[in-house]
Amino acid sequence: MTRKRPEELRSHRWLGVSDLRSFGHRSRLRQVGYDATDWAGRPVIGIINTWSDINPCHTHLRQRAEEVKRGVLQAGGFPIELPAMSLAEVMVKPTTMLYRNFLAMETEELLRSHPIDGAVLLGGCDKTTPALIMGAISMGVPAIMVPAGPMLRGNWQGKPLGSGSDVWKYWDEKRAGNITEAEWEEIENGIARSFGTCMTMGTAATMMAIAEAMGLALPGASSIPAADSNHPRMATASGRRIVEMVWEDLTPEKILDQAAFENAIKVHMAMGGSTNAIIHVVAMAKRAGVQISLADFDRISRSVPVIANVRPSGAFLMEDFFYAGGLRALMAELSPLLDLNCMTVTGKTVKENIAGAKVYLRDVIHPMSDPVSSEPATGVLFGNLAPRGAIIKPSAVEKRLLKHRGPALAFEDYNHMAAMIERDDLDVTPDHVLVLKNAGPKGGPGMPEWGMLPIPRKLVKQGVRDMLRVSDARMSGTSYGACVLHVSPESYVGGPLAFVQSGDPIEVDVAGRSINLMIPDDEMARRRAAWKAPAPRYERGYGAMFSNHIGQADEGCDFDFLSAHLPVAEPEIH
Ligand code: FES
Repeated sequence: MTRKRPEELRSHRWLGVSDLRSFGHRSRLRQVGYDATDWAGRPVIGIINTWSDINPCHTHLRQRAEEVKRGVLQAGGFPIELPAMSLAEVMVKPTTMLYRNFLAMETEELLRSHPIDGAVLLGGCDKTTPALIMGAISMGVPAIMVPAGPMLRGNWQGKPLGSGSDVWKYWDEKRAGNITEAEWEEIENGIARSFGTCMTMGTAATMMAIAEAMGLALPGASSIPAADSNHPRMATASGRRIVEMVWEDLTPEKILDQAAFENAIKVHMAMGGSTNAIIHVVAMAKRAGVQISLADFDRISRSVPVIANVRPSGAFLMEDFFYAGGLRALMAELSPLLDLNCMTVTGKTVKENIAGAKVYLRDVIHPMSDPVSSEPATGVLFGNLAPRGAIIKPSAVEKRLLKHRGPALAFEDYNHMAAMIERDDLDVTPDHVLVLKNAGPKGGPGMPEWGMLPIPRKLVKQGVRDMLRVSDARMSGTSYGACVLHVSPESYVGGPLAFVQSGDPIEVDVAGRSINLMIPDDEMARRRAAWKAPAPRYERGYGAMFSNHIGQADEGCDFDFLSAHLPVAEPEIH
């Protein structure tokens, strides 16, 4: 392997030459207290840090950045921390998905505009991982992900609590009058006990695992609980490794090929991962110049069993998954299905990275011969209601609803649904299909996680806990139930979902991968002709830019001007 020479470093243009501008760069570094010993002949490592005071999943990243710096210094690099937008999933409204591309742009431009030779990406809360990776792919410098890691298990009255999943579960019990206000408060105290991401197999855990499976994080990094002392050691090791990656010129382009993305999708399926990951993987692949479509997810899902017994598809939590051997063990179990020759940030192949990995807790990581669910993690449905596809998570659905026909109960938007759903006189039965419109990429806007529509209170009281639900929204990876999501094209732009009226029969057949509105074609055509486009959501600002450039769910929801796999010129220095 050829190694870069110091004068070939990207930062050399800023710091290594002798002209008026480089005088300015160096004199201003001296202003900070650095001198030539800090930078001369050393790779400059940008640490993109998504810490903020209001992001509980990233509380420790301030400290982790210091631990990364220690590793960079140990290996002879020059660490520079660059703060970036912090997308706290539970705090940012209307949804963090509105800002994933914003963070991706910020990551790319922070790296491009500064004298950065390699990047360490610190983050983990839901949209942060794909955003950082999308930006790093487009910039093209060597990059390594330091996953924020899951928080510790929740605890209530001696029982483990899982992020999200148990919130929905106990909220329904409270609505049904089965738990008290005081017990509900105890749950609030016990469900989030340490820094770190959600510890169910939500979007965060799924995307961190995908980053590792694609080869962008150190082996095992994504499974380490944030509060475990292995975590800072992993951060320091990542700091050491990125310096070597710069000398080796090991860029994302040399890691992310078709096989790397297919490995990631296989791991996603085996984990019973979040449906949100489908959008992010499609978007990351486009940035890398790799074609991944919804059909690839469906094809792969049919051959990969769910083997991680983690909620919401299974019973355990990410802390248990770590003790069971973590992602290395899961990938070793899955190795007959993986391309083991894929390159990774270690400079070694997947095969070398997982050599010797073992499953320690068989009830947490199952063998492929004894899957956690007989249903696949993801099914892609097509039909006249979703011509460009829709997603369902069969492993988290009540079996009776896998093939279902029922009358629609249609809501025009979230507020309409919220105003109706608690009414005791709502005309609804367990066989109804709840439909939510105007919750897609443009209509939401930002495709909020509204797809797990609440079961009408009247039915909750009768003991109903699952119903067929259809929307162009996403759902949290910690959610569950018979929710058909990401219906494309969305209703706000005139997709067929816009034409559904209450009482229309809807038929979903998961095994047959179909979803159809059972009305005559001429009636569908009549409703399409009568449809009027709604007024724009935004007249100015980022929202207007978002609305004008956002792609549909099946395209990965990237901006049209960002998704292309095209080189961007280095900045001029004058
Ligand atoms: Fe950050 Fe769930 S809220 S990962």
